[in-house]
Amino acid sequence: MNHVFVTRLLPDPAMQRLQAVDLVLDVWPEPGPPPYDELLRRASGVHGLLTLLTDRINARLLDAAGPQLRVISQMAVGVDNIDLAACTARGIPVGHTPGVLSDAVADLTIGLMIATARRFFEAHADMRAGRWRTWEPMGWTGPDLHGATVGIVGLGRIGEAVARRLQGFGVRILYHNRGPNPRAGELGATYVSFDELLESSDFVTLHCPYTPETHHLIGADALARMKPSAILINTARGGVVDQDALVEALRSGQILAAGLDVFTPEPLSPDHPLLRLPNVTALPHIGSASIATRIKMAQMAVDNLLAGLAGQRLPHCANPEVYEN
Ligand code: DGY
Repeated sequence: MNHVFVTRLLPDPAMQRLQAVDLVLDVWPEPGPPPYDELLRRASGVHGLLTLLTDRINARLLDAAGPQLRVISQMAVGVDNIDLAACTARGIPVGHTPGVLSDAVADLTIGLMIATARRFFEAHADMRAGRWRTWEPMGWTGPDLHGATVGIVGLGRIGEAVARRLQGFGVRILYHNRGPNPRAGELGATYVSFDELLESSDFVTLHCPYTPETHHLIGADALARMKPSAILINTARGGVVDQDALVEALRSGQILAAGLDVFTPEPLSPDHPLLRLPNVTALPHIGSASIATRIKMAQMAVDNLLAGLAGQRLPHCANPEVYEN
C-alpha cells in the first residue's frame, strides 16, 4: 500500500479525493508548515509527498525519505524550494501547477499596480486614523497606470496574462525574456534589452521564475537605472529582488514606490524596514489566493500525486528530463 505525507490540510474537494483512494495518508494538521526535522521524520518511508512552497525539499530530505519515494507533487507553480536536480538524479518526478493560477496572479498584479500608484493603503490608513480633514487638490495623488509604459520581466504564462489585462489600460508594453516570445505581437508587447526596460518603464513588473540566474536580478545597479518616478511590482519570488538595495532606493527616492506580494524570508518580520516605508504596498504572498484558484491548484497537485503513485507520467511535471532515460 502506498504511503503519502501531505504537508498541510488541502481544500475539501482535494482532501476528499485523497481520502477516497486506497493509501495510508498522513496529513500535517497544523496551520503552519512542518518544521524541517518533522518533515524528515514524516517523509521517511513514504511513496509520495504532497508539498507546499514553504517546505524545503533537498537531498537530505530525499535521502531521509528513502529509495521507495516515487513522486513529489507541489501545490504551486514555483518549485524553487525543491532541489530539482537532486530529484531528477534519483528518478523522482516533481509535479507543479502551471496555468491554473496565471489569471488570479495577473488580477492581483494589476490591483497592486493601481493600489501602489494611487496609494490605496496609505489613504485607507489615514482615513482610519482621522487624518481625512478635507478634499485637497493634490492630496493622496500618484501616477496613472493608463497611458504609462509598463515593463514586464518574464513574458511567460503569468506575464502574458498581465499583458492581456494591460491592453485595456492603453499602456505601452515592453518586455524582457531570455528570448523573444512569439505571442508578444498579439499582446502588443515589444522586446527590449533588460537595461532599456528598466530605463524606459514607469512600472516594472516581475514575472520570472526564481533561479540562480534571477537571484537579485533587481539589485542596486538595476534600481539605479530605473526612473525616479518608477514603481516596482513583484508577485514572482522575493529572491528576485535585493531587498536591502530596494529599501535604500525607496528611502532615497531613487524610485517612487514598490508593490510587493513576495519577500525574503516569508513570513517577513513586521519590523522589517520595508514595512515601515510609506511608499511600499505589501501583501502576504496572496497572488493566487482566489478560492477557485486555490481549489484548482490543490486538485492539480492531487492529479500529479496520483499519477506518480500509479507509475504514470505526471500531467504537469517540473523536471520532465526525469523521463529521458
Ligand atoms: C506559486 O504557485 O508558485 C505561487 O507563488 C503561489 O501561488
